[in-house]
Amino acid sequence: MTQAQFQARIDADIKIEPKDWMPEAYRKTLIRQISQHAHSEIVGMLPEGNWITRAPSLRRKAILLAKIQDEAGHGLYLYSAAETLGKTRESMIDDLHTGKAKYSSIFNYPTLSWADMGSVGWLVDGAAIMNQVALCRTSYGPYARAMVRICKEESFHQRQGYEVIMTLCRGTAAQKQMAQESLNRWWWPALMMFGPKDEDSPNTEQAMKWRIKRFTNDELRQRFIDATVPQAEFLGLTIPDPDLKWNEERQHYDSGNINWEEFYQVIAGNGPCNTARLAARQKAHDEGEWVREAAMAYSKKQEQRNKQVA
Ligand code: 3HC
Repeated sequence: MTQAQFQARIDADIKIEPKDWMPEAYRKTLIRQISQHAHSEIVGMLPEGNWITRAPSLRRKAILLAKIQDEAGHGLYLYSAAETLGKTRESMIDDLHTGKAKYSSIFNYPTLSWADMGSVGWLVDGAAIMNQVALCRTSYGPYARAMVRICKEESFHQRQGYEVIMTLCRGTAAQKQMAQESLNRWWWPALMMFGPKDEDSPNTEQAMKWRIKRFTNDELRQRFIDATVPQAEFLGLTIPDPDLKWNEERQHYDSGNINWEEFYQVIAGNGPCNTARLAARQKAHDEGEWVREAAMAYSKKQEQRNKQVA
């Protein structure tokens, strides 16, 4: 197949499947994006795992446990989708542990109060949904199909987070203040999740041509702001952006400037929790060695048995 024939398939919205011919650059950028998406899911379990033992009720603990378990599953779907492109699981995990691969900037921030469990669900999963609903129509088949299942679970994640925040806002003045303080810390990092401004994004233009992305970073960020501001207003919370205002002409909210210096520092590995996050992942990986060995030994035994029976 020629590049032109490949692009014609993309333009006709025909899904690209693992065995189809694809430009090396298409394969490479998909491995990059999908594996980093998977890393984000797995590393994203850590800030929430920090609050399992401190959940304020059995109900909240059960919900948080279910959400964290979902994230592990999302990571596995996405690692499997990336493996269809020829990248091994071991090399992806190695790239994460050595800092060669990124994970979402948002998970570099600490979770300091129970309200953060609400903000992570409401804002982080809310932002992830904006991005992931669009990815249900991405041109690479296995990625698009993984997204359909993931998005169903994300909407539960976002709703349970919003319910945590709403409960705090309807509680004592101190609880409402906890929710406001949490929003103040998570609002701007949530906007950074969508990536650099379009004009500063080295990957967006080509990703749009190949329909890996269906919307640009700024378009999805704007959608998230437009959807989230009314939710905060409904709760009586203030978005920590003095420049935020509704623009009747644009029919969108105008918002203030993101601290891009902070964003680029975080994605360069200098985020507040990056060392701890990678150390936790490396420790879990090392301690899980015996599980991988046992699973491999079992599957080898099964293979031998099947050969004997055949
Ligand atoms: N965190 C870390 N790195 C980021 C980033 C972020 N928020 N935004 C951009 N970057 C990196 C890119 O990876 C790229 O670096 P690389 O070339 O070394 O990979 C560089 O900054 C330039 O950014 P681009 O916008 O040009 O890169 P992309 O075209 O890849 O767009 C993206 C970035 C929008 C994050 C895109 O990769 C994407 O849509 N990824 C899939 C969605 C995803 O990963 N979401 C993460 C959250 S998952 C989650 O929240 C779990 C939920 O259940 C809680």
